[in-house]
Parts: sequence; C-alpha cells; structure tokens
Amino acid sequence: MVSRKWLANDMMYQIAVVGTGYVGLVAAVCFAEIGHHVTCLDVDGDKINLCKSGIAPFFEPGLQELLARGLEQGRLFFTTDVNQAYRDAAAIFIGVGTPEQPDGSADLSSIAKVARQIAENVKQDCLVIVKSTVPVGTNDKVEQFVRDFKKNGIRIEVASNPEFLAQGSAVHDTLQAARIVIGTSSRWAEDLLTDIYKPFGLPIVSVSRRSAEMIKYAANSFLALKISYMNDIANLCELVDADILDVAKGMSYDDRIGAKHLNAGIGYGGSCFPKDTKALEFLAKQHGYNLRTVKAAIDVNRDQKTILIRKASSRLITFSGLQIAALGLTFKPGTDDFRESAAIDNISFLLHEGAEVFAYDPVGTPNFQKLFPQGRHEAGNITYVTQPRDALKNAHACFIFTEWQQIKEITPQDYRQLMHTPLVFDGRNILSIKEMAKAQVEYYSIGRQRKG
Ligand code: UDX
Repeated sequence: MVSRKWLANDMMYQIAVVGTGYVGLVAAVCFAEIGHHVTCLDVDGDKINLCKSGIAPFFEPGLQELLARGLEQGRLFFTTDVNQAYRDAAAIFIGVGTPEQPDGSADLSSIAKVARQIAENVKQDCLVIVKSTVPVGTNDKVEQFVRDFKKNGIRIEVASNPEFLAQGSAVHDTLQAARIVIGTSSRWAEDLLTDIYKPFGLPIVSVSRRSAEMIKYAANSFLALKISYMNDIANLCELVDADILDVAKGMSYDDRIGAKHLNAGIGYGGSCFPKDTKALEFLAKQHGYNLRTVKAAIDVNRDQKTILIRKASSRLITFSGLQIAALGLTFKPGTDDFRESAAIDNISFLLHEGAEVFAYDPVGTPNFQKLFPQGRHEAGNITYVTQPRDALKNAHACFIFTEWQQIKEITPQDYRQLMHTPLVFDGRNILSIKEMAKAQVEYYSIGRQRKG
C-alpha cells in the first residue's frame, strides 16, 4: 500500500478517467487511493451502476477494497455524463479498448470518439493522457484531432502514459510499478503528469510521446518473445532429452536474463501479448520493415497452443465419444479473463472432434460459458463442474491449460483413482514426472526429460 506520508504535502488533482475496463478502473482506484479526486466515465450504464454500488465489474485482487474505500472517502465518482466527468478535470486519462482488427492493426475508433468528445465538451485547460496501448504516432494524431474539433481558446495537450499492469496483480502493479513512463511534448505537460504521479513515489521515465508509445509495444513484445523462445527451446529439449525446467533454472541465475517470464508451456494468451505483438508487426510492415524476431514469436505461439492436441493425437486413435477433463479456462491464474486462452483453441477442437468435455475453472467459468454454453457443440458436448476432481471422474484423458492452485493441488493418486484411463496432458508443467510415473499415470508435458 502507498505510504500516507505523501498525502500531506502533495498537490491533489481533479482527474477524469474514460473507460472502466482493466486499465481505466485500476488506474482510477489507485489515483483515488493516493488522494486525487477521480471521476470515471463509461458509456456502459450497467457497469457504472455496479461501480457506484461498490462492486467491481471484474475480478482483480485488491480492486474491490480500493473501490469501496474511494467511494467511502468521497474521492471516487462514476458517471455516464460527459459534462459531469470533464467539468473541472485538470487531467483526463483515456483507458478505452484498442482491439485487434483482422489485419493485426489496432482499432482506434474508441480513442477517436473520446478525443472528439473531449474537444467538444472541455471548457478549461487540461491534459489528455492516453493510457490505452496505441501505435506509435497516435498521440500526435489525437492532439491534432482535438485541436481540429476544439471550439474555444483553451489549452488541451496530449500525453502518453502506457500501462504495464498484468491481470491478477493489476492493483499491485500500479501502486508498486517498476516504473512510470510518461511521454510529453511540453514542459507544462511533463510537470503536470509528474506532479500527478509524485505521490506514488515511483521512478518516472520521462521521454517523447513516440518513445513512450514504443516502450509499451517493445516491452510487451520482448516478454512475448522471451516466452516463445523458451517454448521453442522446450520443444528442442524434448527432441534431445534435456529438461526445460532445469534449463530455465540454469538460465535464470544470470541477471541479464532474469527468472521471470521464463516458463515454457502452452503459449501466451491474454489481452496484451497476442494483440500487441501483432500490432507491432503490422506497424513495422506499414513502414516497410520486416520485424523478424516478433514475427517468429507470433509463429511459435500459434503452434504452441495446439501442442497438447498434437501429443494427444499421436497417442489416441480418436477423441470422438471420449470423456475429456479440461482443467483451467482462463489465459492464466488469478483472473477470470479467457481472452486468447489456450483452452479456447483446444476445447473448440475437442468439441469439433466429438469429445465429451468436462471443464473446470475456479473463477473463469461464467465468462467462458458465454462462448461455449453448457451442452452440445458440433459433434461434442461440454459440461462445467465446480470441483476440479469432478472433471476427472471416469475421464479417458485430461488436459491442463491453466496452473491454478486448485489444479496444482490434484495429486497423482487422484488422477490414477478418479480417471477411467489415467492419461494426462499438462500444458503448464505443474506435475512431477517421477511422481506421476510412480502413481502409474501416463503423463505428457512440455519440454521435459522423459525420466523426470
Ligand atoms: C502482460 C504484461 O505482463 C503486462 O506488463 C502488460 O501490461 C500486459 O500484458 P498479462 O497479459 O496480464 O500482462 O499477463 P502475463 O502474466 O504477462 O502473462 C501473459 C501470458 O503469458 C499468459 O497466458 C501466461 O500464461 C503466459 N506466460 C507468462 C507463459 O507462458 N510463461 C511465462 O513465463 C509467463
């Protein structure tokens, strides 16, 4: 939690945050937590009403608590009314979505809509800060756009402030961020943004707007590349009978490499890495440059997502009529988000092939059910269970897609005793090869030595 000693001396601001998704809402509650007055604006009335009543619209550790405190202490407000949100705001943070388009580019229509709304409604000098991930050069365009639509002589500038929070630790990642990146084009904007962030007591990297925009894409693509590199090495480890867990451990002690994001598995998912790598590759292509490293990361990841199906296909003659346990539906533990999760591709394949899928996730089921409602799909069928072991009862095979603690707690003996055929395909390397062999469970994982 942030140190309260800052509050007495620091200047507090009226802030508006547009978009109450992961980026916007987390930023808003954290700004309120350190003492600013924050009004959140969203077009979704239901979401705003939920927030107003103190209920976070998505699962994120610590969010609920901060939301409640902000409301209670009168520093956090929610509205669908543009005028109420922008009135008196010294800074307006934009945190709306920039979804991927079919060609891999980022869809900027929501940003443009908000920029125009700001230009047409703001009546005092203010700084507009783009938190959403946007292609390099977007901030320049947003500023020009605002100026084109602005009616009065007020000063509106645009700054870039990319977000580095990871889902599942978003509040922590904001309050205790490794760094805050700000990209500005004037001293006024730099000073204002530095002032707003001062109470966090974190390192601030102040650069140009274009560099700030690039830092976000470069950082995310680097992490995606790191994971794809480990997946590539894991696949090679299998061929030469080396063990990726030992290889990663040996690499991690070198602090030029570091221990984080070094886990091989069934590929990266989520709302950032898949989208941002593709957007960066698209940006490069637009400028006539072939960004081979990032392209390679994307290619490796696409193949990695179906690696368990390939392993299972060479072991089983068919999936049709087989009872399959699917453990973990979200793209990683600690979130109810299943965007680009490995479970989507794999379950969709299994259903197409006629499998009877029994799926378990501790928090992601309601969201996942929107995509695959319980019941028949193509030749197969999906049933959701609330206990991980219920998915295993009488199963002919089990697939592990997410390393939730509840799934890690299933023992080799459980697999042996509950399943019809103890056959496990583990996309997250959470089980011991030795223990599984001892319990007489046939076990396949990613990049591990055969004997364990
Ligand atoms: C990521 C970045 O971490 C964050 O800084 C950025 O702002 C947004 O994107 P997030 O997508 O929430 O955050 O999750 P992250 O923990 O980075 O994991 C992304 C994906 O990579 C998950 O599917 C995860 O399972 C996978 N992953 C992660 C691995 O396969 N191996 C690893 O070692 C780490």
